[in-house]
Amino acid sequence: MTTAEMTKKELKLSKMADNLESSPILVLSKAVNEKIAAGENVFNLTVGDFNPKIFPIPTALTEEIISAYNAGLTNYPPTGGLPELKQAISRYVKRKGNMEYSTSEVTVTGGARPLIYGVYQTLLDPGDTVLFPVPSWNNHYYSHLAHCKQQMIETTAENNFMITADDLRPHIQSANLLALCSPQNPSGTCFTKEQLEDICDLVLEENNRRGPNEKPVYVLYDQIYWILTHGDVEHVNPVLLRPEIKDYTINIDGISKAFAATGVRIGWATGPEKIISKLGVVITHMGAWAPKPEQSACAKYLDREDEVDEYLTEMKKKISDRLNAFYNGFKALRQEGFKVDAISPQAAMYLTIQLDLVGLTPQGSSKLTNPKEVNEFILSKAGMALVPFYGFGASDDSSWFRLSVGTTSMKMIDQCLAKLKVALDELS
Ligand SMILES: Cc1ncc(COP(=O)(O)O)c(C=O)c1O
Repeated sequence: MTTAEMTKKELKLSKMADNLESSPILVLSKAVNEKIAAGENVFNLTVGDFNPKIFPIPTALTEEIISAYNAGLTNYPPTGGLPELKQAISRYVKRKGNMEYSTSEVTVTGGARPLIYGVYQTLLDPGDTVLFPVPSWNNHYYSHLAHCKQQMIETTAENNFMITADDLRPHIQSANLLALCSPQNPSGTCFTKEQLEDICDLVLEENNRRGPNEKPVYVLYDQIYWILTHGDVEHVNPVLLRPEIKDYTINIDGISKAFAATGVRIGWATGPEKIISKLGVVITHMGAWAPKPEQSACAKYLDREDEVDEYLTEMKKKISDRLNAFYNGFKALRQEGFKVDAISPQAAMYLTIQLDLVGLTPQGSSKLTNPKEVNEFILSKAGMALVPFYGFGASDDSSWFRLSVGTTSMKMIDQCLAKLKVALDELS
């Protein structure tokens, strides 16, 4: 036996890692990128990201980041974030969202992801139950990483894919965490005031029912897209609607989406001091701080109120022009008799569209039998890359898809809709 043979072992992983599903979205993105690399003309509408050439970060933020590096701010940042950034965040959420959080109720990390991971770790024990709607973004991964049970509830187009108190009621007594997101990824839709009030009342009623030594139901409220509402849509937050729920609510936020700064990596959570301070410790052990120069730059930038407002007005206009162009295009195709539809865009850079094409047959090919085949047909014939809602946990037969405009120029939209029409025309 050679030495190499003697030492060869099966590389066993933890059960958690072994059972961690790979993301269908990443698999899809890989297929799309391969097509692009092979020179195919693909409209990549899959990513929850921005093309920096179309959506650059604010120039003033870039300048502040460079000067922070030049000033040598390259050692460890303090646990929970630079005090001046926490102060700036506290002012920013008050000014833009009317939310009152002191600096001890704010913690900063490298983007929003570590916060969500950290909240699960801070609040939940193995075997606890996380209640969340589907389609939704990544809750099944975070609950898996925290060894929790998952209670998923499928939402419907009738409610714009936003969960209601009636949907949640049968499950609330067994829940330890209710994970909500508004504006929601993937649907680009928001809770109405009434919908969210009813959910808050349900949570408060449940927490009043529980004994003093029982863990309450916590609410993780992911509002990373809240600044990006369109038209007359208003973002709502549990704490503003029902102040009593502040004790149980952790808000997730950051600059990734509002300022097209997904690669800059600044996220923050606001919530009760006890939870926020422990969350800061959990994050410290992960080393998932936001880079110090970016923190310093963000602190200075958020206080430049006029520049921030000017940037956000422009950002929102660019996104909503694109969403409306796609929305109108889908509605026009529907009027022409094609089996497609769209939900009026409310927020973020996502449009919910329907391709109800199962049962139809492309020329010279066999019948489309499921949404996966519909997706492949649209990609190959219209060059349109979308994410099916089943990629976000909806059922496999859901005919709804997410269309992201973060990498789209206005010119591309007409070309894309024209190609889609040709593809739809060949179905019988
Ligand atoms: C709903 C939602 N929350 C959080 C995040 C993570 O944001 P970040 O890039 O700041 O980690 C995303 C990213 O796509 C998201 O869609």
